[in-house]
Amino acid sequence: MTESKKYSIAVLPGDGTGPEVVREGKKVLEAAGEKFNIKFEFAEFDFGGERYLKTGETVNPQDVEELKKFRAIFLGAIGHPEVAPGILELGILLKLRFALDQYINLRPVKLYPGVDCPLKDKGPQDIDFIVVRENTGCVYSGHGGVTRKGSPYEVATQVMVYDRQMVDRCLEYAFMLARERKKEGKPGRLTLVHKTNVLTFVGDLWFRAFNEMTEKYPDIQTDYNHVDAACMWMVKNPEWYDVIVTSNMFGDIITDLGAMIQGGMGIAAGGNINPAGTSMFEPIGGSAPKYTGMNIINPLAAIEAGRMMLAHLGEKGAALSIQSAVADACTRLKSLGAGKMGFSTSEVGDMIADFILKT
Ligand code: IPM
Ligand code: MN
Repeated sequence: MTESKKYSIAVLPGDGTGPEVVREGKKVLEAAGEKFNIKFEFAEFDFGGERYLKTGETVNPQDVEELKKFRAIFLGAIGHPEVAPGILELGILLKLRFALDQYINLRPVKLYPGVDCPLKDKGPQDIDFIVVRENTGCVYSGHGGVTRKGSPYEVATQVMVYDRQMVDRCLEYAFMLARERKKEGKPGRLTLVHKTNVLTFVGDLWFRAFNEMTEKYPDIQTDYNHVDAACMWMVKNPEWYDVIVTSNMFGDIITDLGAMIQGGMGIAAGGNINPAGTSMFEPIGGSAPKYTGMNIINPLAAIEAGRMMLAHLGEKGAALSIQSAVADACTRLKSLGAGKMGFSTSEVGDMIADFILKT
C-alpha cells in the first residue's frame, strides 16, 4: 500500500453550534480520508466568545504565526450572544482573513436535487454559480472614524478602500476560475457586480481593471451588473450566472441571498483563500446560539466547507466523493432547516460518512 498523504489542519470550532457542525465535518473528512488514503492531523484552537469572556483575548499575533504553519483551517462559527457585536467578528474572523491575506472569499451557490428552493419554477439546472467575493478591502478595512461622538453633530465615516493590485489579484482569480469551470462544461462566463453608477471612483477602478483583463481571457464571456440589479437577476434568472466577481461588502450581501436560493444557511459554505498561504473554510451561517447543544443543527454547510478544503488541497477524488454523499443526503433530509431535517446533526454526519465508505 502506498504511504498516505498527510495534512495538518487547524480546527477552530468556535461558538454556539460551531463545535457540533465541526464534529460532523471532521467525521466526514476522516471517512473520505480512509477511502482515499489521506491522513489528517487536526489541532484544535479555542478562539471564540467563551475564551474572550474568560481572558479578554481574541486572536493575537502569535496565534496568527501559529496558524500559518497549517495547510488549512477548518472553522465552525464565531459569534456569542454575550459579547458586543463587532468584537469577535473583527477580532477573530476578519482578523484571520486579513492577517493570513485570504483575499478571496469563494462561495458556491448550487442547488442540489431534492432541496426546496424558494424560487418558483427554478431547479438544480438553473442554480449553479459561484461568487468570488474580494475578502480584504472595501469598507471592511477599518479606514474611517468618528468625531463629535454622542453629540447631535456626530460625524462618522467608513471608507471604501481598494488599490489596483487588490482588485487585479481578485479579478485574476475569478477569470482563472471561470476558465477552470469552462473545462468542466460550464458556460465560462464572468460577471462583475458593482455599483459604478454611484461609486464613480472605486467602481470605476474595478470596471476599468475588469475590462483591461478581458483581453487576457478571450475565451471567457464577460458581463457587468449593478449590485441592485444583480439581486433582482439572482431571483429572476439565476441560470444566467456562472462566476460572479465582486467587492467585499457586495459579496457579503449577495451571498446571503445566494444561500437562500440554494436551500438556506444549512448548506451554504465558503472558503477564505490565500492561493499561496493558509486558507480557511467555514459554513457561512452564524453560530445559531439558540440551537446550541441540541443536536438539531444542519451540519451540511460544514461538511461542504470540508469538501471545499479538500478540493483546494488538490484532493479531487475525495472532494467529489463528499459531494456525491451530500447530494444523496439532500434527497433524504425532509428539510435543510435546523430541527426539521428528520435526522439529528450526528445522524446526518453518519449518513454522509457511511455513503462515502460504502460507494
Ligand atoms: C460573513 C459574515 C462576516 C462578514 C461577519 C460575521 C464579519 O457575515 O462571513 O459573511 O461580513 O464577512
Ligand atoms: Mn455575511
